[in-house]
Amino acid sequence: MVKFETQVGIIGAGPAGLMLSHLLHQHGITSIVLEAKNRAYCEERVRAGVLEHTSVEMLRNAGIAHRLDREGLRHEGIDLGLHGYLHRIPFVELTGKAVTVYGQQEVVKDLISQRLSDGGDLRFECGEISVHDFEEDRPSIHVDKEDNVDVISCDYIAGCDGFHGISRSSIPPRALTVYDRTYPFAWLGILAEAAPSREELIYMHHERGFALYSMRAPRITRLYLQCKPDVDLAEWSDDRIWNELHTRLGCSDGWRPTEGKILQKGVTGMRSFVVEPLQFGRLFLAGDAAHIVPPTGAKGMNLAFADVHYLAEALRAKYRDNDEAKLDAYSATCLSRIWKAQRFSWWMTSLLHLFYDASPFDRKRQVAELQYVMSSRAAATSLAENYVGLPLD
Ligand code: FAD
Ligand code: PHB
Repeated sequence: MVKFETQVGIIGAGPAGLMLSHLLHQHGITSIVLEAKNRAYCEERVRAGVLEHTSVEMLRNAGIAHRLDREGLRHEGIDLGLHGYLHRIPFVELTGKAVTVYGQQEVVKDLISQRLSDGGDLRFECGEISVHDFEEDRPSIHVDKEDNVDVISCDYIAGCDGFHGISRSSIPPRALTVYDRTYPFAWLGILAEAAPSREELIYMHHERGFALYSMRAPRITRLYLQCKPDVDLAEWSDDRIWNELHTRLGCSDGWRPTEGKILQKGVTGMRSFVVEPLQFGRLFLAGDAAHIVPPTGAKGMNLAFADVHYLAEALRAKYRDNDEAKLDAYSATCLSRIWKAQRFSWWMTSLLHLFYDASPFDRKRQVAELQYVMSSRAAATSLAENYVGLPLD
């Protein structure tokens, strides 16, 4: 058995865990980050792509936006589509703010490289983890690898280990309330080697199902099709995917997505999930460990950053001023923002997808709502201010 000491033990090297470790370092607080997968896996996993204005500001303030500012694609609006007709929601005109398209794996690469150059303690392929004594003053994390157990003794544990991690499930179920909703559809997503042929994203409502046109870089597009959750990828040849994308995304002005080699295919389930509270004793949950949103609002990674912003501020107040008020308020502070993002993500999902069992009334109401957002400056402004990110309190 080998013993280690640190102030904050962080489980998970996703956006939440890495950003927390970086912010704590800036406040002079030590941490050890424990990650089950290897570095390449963390750096190559393709997931979210849209950074809120709020997240970009946070990354800039934290001094890790150099590459983001060079390579990120600033988007000043999105298009909403109905029956092939597009309507632009001009974010900058409506809110004064924009979003930035920059892949989650690029943010993760930047954070890993910064933590390592700052001498950070990141342990990839760490082994099997268990958390102990988090109801006491001095909790610990046990890391079991190849018959050796490392014991990391710390003041606080941050559970940043995603939806399937061990942190949330280590809390006694009686202490948690779960709010959960699953949707009767999923997204089939592809990454294609094709230069984007539009400057902004298209969220298209179509009678065959929702489709999203997005991008990652000047030569890479990212596209999604609404599909059944139990879809068999083997039944979706590249040709079938492109045909369906042309059908759903084809615009009245003749625009179609440009085809290219499909580099990756995957299916993402759609779920809204929140656990309350985000704290049990000295164990704090952040990011996907505590909540999941359907991706239609592009909020997942952004919410993870907001949580760790609040957690880092709270830990700073504790260590610098011995003030625990922000730590005590951590869960309530995060939940206020989380529920607003949940509402927005649910609303965008409900607005744009085909609900297979919708009644004729529901279909008409849904189209009317979309037409309202496309015709009302007030409704468009509400969408825009949520999409670019509500301010951090
Ligand atoms: P994660 O990124 O999940 O990181 C958690 C880390 O903890 C992982 O590296 C994991 O390996 C590690 N871990 C887990 N268990 C353990 C353990 N026992 N011990 C040690 N380490 C552990 N959001 C969007 O906004 N847009 C999208 O298009 C989008 N697409 C997505 C596609 C998929 C397939 C998934 C799963 C998510 C997607 N999301 C998307 C959501 C977004 O990626 C997440 O909200 C974001 O990754 C949350 O960051 P996190 O750090 O909280 O969790
Ligand atoms: C993406 O580019 O992967 C993306 C963009 C917007 C979303 C979801 C995913 O709402």
